[in-house]
Amino acid sequence: MSAPTRVAILISGGGSNMLRLVDSMTGDHPARPVLVASNDPAAGGLARAAERGVPVAAVDHRPFGRDRAAFEAALLEPLLAARPDILCLAGFMRILTPEFTQRFAGRMLNIHPSLLPKYRGLHTHQRALDAGDDVAGCTVHEVTAELDDGPILGQARVAIRPEDDADSLAARVLVREHALYPACLRRFAAGDRARRDLP
Ligand code: GAR
Repeated sequence: MSAPTRVAILISGGGSNMLRLVDSMTGDHPARPVLVASNDPAAGGLARAAERGVPVAAVDHRPFGRDRAAFEAALLEPLLAARPDILCLAGFMRILTPEFTQRFAGRMLNIHPSLLPKYRGLHTHQRALDAGDDVAGCTVHEVTAELDDGPILGQARVAIRPEDDADSLAARVLVREHALYPACLRRFAAGDRARRDLP
């Protein structure tokens, strides 16, 4: 049997998507988690990953101020030591430099809480509500140097209800994220880069 594909995951917060990814990588899944790292030492997801036996690392971005390259150099130490084949961003809220994205070109994924190309960046749910959209959703895509851009691997759609606010919409989209991201990672780790949306 060939060695499993090694997956590292970057988080900034609670890491619910990260946990879904970690929990999906068992049995005949082609990949295994090798590291969960965060730019925030207080990120709740770190303890939850460690509880599952996944190695964790924290590299606080704050001492580096605006020096993104220096932060990334520090982040790369534990990351490269884990020898990941695939890097998953899962609620990682730092913008990465083109040098960093280039290093992982073709093997870095992100989940974004909108139907890209709509609403790159922040406050996606409020922006969908403000625009009067009747559907929202989430996207898993390959990461390129452009923010929230790159080939789409899958989307899941969520109907917007008249009574929705950003929080209620975010909660329903998150449920779909938890199904979409593991499905996309599994296919990607098996070498399938075709786009497949969830019904
Ligand atoms: C998720 O909704 C994810 O799509 C979003 O942050 C949340 C993280 O939740 N990511 C972004 O906005 C990236 N720009 P989680 O920590 O529970 O997975």
